Amino acid sequence: MIVTLTANPSIDHTVALSEPLRRGDLQRARAATSYPGGKGVNVSRVLAGAGAATIAVLPGSPGDPLLRALTETGLDYRAVPCGGPARTNLTITETDGTTTKINEPGTPLTAAERKALADLLVELARDAAWVVLSGSLPPAVPTDWYVELLRLLPGTRVAVDTSDGPLLAMAGQFESAAPQLIKPNAEELAQLTGADPEALHDPAAAARAASALVARGVETVLATLGAAGAVLVTADGAWHATAPAITARSTVGAGDSSLGGYLLADLDGAAPEDRLRRAVAYGSAAAALPGTGLPGPHHTDPSAVAVTALDFQPHH
Ligand SMILES: Nc1ncnc2c1ncn2[C@@H]1O[C@H](COP(=O)(O)OP(=O)(O)OP(=O)(O)O)[C@@H](O)[C@H]1O
Ligand SMILES: [Mg+2]
Repeated sequence: MIVTLTANPSIDHTVALSEPLRRGDLQRARAATSYPGGKGVNVSRVLAGAGAATIAVLPGSPGDPLLRALTETGLDYRAVPCGGPARTNLTITETDGTTTKINEPGTPLTAAERKALADLLVELARDAAWVVLSGSLPPAVPTDWYVELLRLLPGTRVAVDTSDGPLLAMAGQFESAAPQLIKPNAEELAQLTGADPEALHDPAAAARAASALVARGVETVLATLGAAGAVLVTADGAWHATAPAITARSTVGAGDSSLGGYLLADLDGAAPEDRLRRAVAYGSAAAALPGTGLPGPHHTDPSAVAVTALDFQPHH
């Protein structure tokens, strides 16, 4: 079983325009769709879609439209009551593919609400192969809350996918509390290592940056590089994988799908190359699907993903 935490969930509302967005004007949308979002929720949906047992943990009070929508999806979730309704994140798409996103800050979590979430995670972690901490933190939550959770989960394998302040706060503590897995994209890997994000689209450069994090205590770094695929680095080696070229329709949830694919392979006991292969198969399938669609196994073709070992001097 895999437990995910989405500390700052959202209803993801996408509005499609049939003409360019004009600031200050009234425009009519061609279509609109809403779905229950949040990065941990996405990971759980990918896992559940492949038949793996998963529970999504999130803040949310009874009757919240987000929870109603989640119930409709059939996903197993546990919500901890909190002060307000889930935020809405707005995506505006134009016909030329331009995508504008406006994310609300989210509902602040009090210390008592954070403790209730942490207690629930610790309880569920007893039966979990992994706990996944995903996404941004809502207002009023200390930037180092993920570090606090890591310290409450000794003996549990923890994966973290976050950015900015929470990522940097965690990196500052790697020597004493490192997660088993992190999934930075190129920009997040740059935040972690001070490298230039553009340079990190080169797989060898990304692997070098990731190996510095492995040296600091992170067991596995799965660095996703958008259209350039992904790199996996452990103390035993480094690998790069790319999927056959696709037409990217919407990269919403691509990173979450990569992490889901990786964890599915890990549950199967797969070797590092095959975990990376599955991650890239899922990321690529997510990018090829329109809108907020998340891939199921039938959308993916791991056998078509090319994996190469990178020349690598592991740090010990
Ligand atoms: N334009 C693209 N073309 C092909 N594959 C892509 C593209 N964008 C993303 N992918 C696939 O999805 C994976 C994850 O994408 P990316 O590195 O952009 O993650 P991310 O920035 O963390 O995404 P998210 O928005 O979900 O957080 C990549 O490793 C790749 O397999
Ligand atoms: Mg991401």
